[in-house]
Amino acid sequence: MDLVRTERGLRKVIWSWRGSGDRIVFVPTMGALHEGHLSLVRLAKKYGERVVVSIFVNPTQFAPGEDLEAYPRTEKEDARLLKAEGVDMVYIPNPDTMYNVHHATTVQVGGVAKGLETDYRPTFFDGVALVVAKLFNRVQPDTAIFGEKDYQQLATIRRLVEDLDMPIKIIGAPIARDAHGLALSSRNAYFDETGLTLARKLNIIMRKCAADMREGQHVDMATSEAKSALLKAGFSSVDYVEVRSPNSLTVLEGGYLNGPARVLVAAHCPNQGQSVRLIDNFPV
Ligand code: PAF
Repeated sequence: MDLVRTERGLRKVIWSWRGSGDRIVFVPTMGALHEGHLSLVRLAKKYGERVVVSIFVNPTQFAPGEDLEAYPRTEKEDARLLKAEGVDMVYIPNPDTMYNVHHATTVQVGGVAKGLETDYRPTFFDGVALVVAKLFNRVQPDTAIFGEKDYQQLATIRRLVEDLDMPIKIIGAPIARDAHGLALSSRNAYFDETGLTLARKLNIIMRKCAADMREGQHVDMATSEAKSALLKAGFSSVDYVEVRSPNSLTVLEGGYLNGPARVLVAAHCPNQGQSVRLIDNFPV
């Protein structure tokens, strides 16, 4: 496995693969890898001959006061896990080359990127779209894999690629969960035992919400019951529980489901005197 840090090194390997006709599949990550990331890597292998994983904790997607400094960084262990999965290259760009002192370009995605997450993290998807566009330009993959855990992010990337004519196929990968149904996330590393026990209740409450709507309950009733249940269980606040159309993420009309939908949630789970923001989503 190549571990590459420079653009020059990256280009050399990518060009040699391209010269041999190999298809390149890309999995962008912020490191602190867990089984969820590894499931993306395994899926990536089905789409091409070469798999590249990037590790970069992207400062532009963190707002002031968020956990940029505290975000877990486990580079050595990440590299070990990726090697064991048979990844061809780990790309770990130097932050100074990703955003040099002259950097002055932003990327803004509208439509699917508006509402839900951006009501609470207004610049989040601008930062994600910027770094993903830069990584795509550097790695030049044929296909890229993103987890459905960050459902709105996946929809945003699909929009970005289509709008900017990037010839890259975007694949969404199913959410990996622990034995209790908690969606795997690098931020789960923050939890102590009590926090983890509460965090694991989120999926149970949301599955009930999805089942109630499937059985004909009004969307407003089901989502408001889910919010109350989350607060009663011990979540300190709920940013949203919303039901949207699965592709465009538009608000559903009529109040009752008459086709596939997605219920999305963001809630704050108290943990050691602070709180961990959890996001998740479920098909209905
Ligand atoms: O989902 C993530 O880990 C990040 O948002 C991504 C796509 C790697 C961009 O920094």
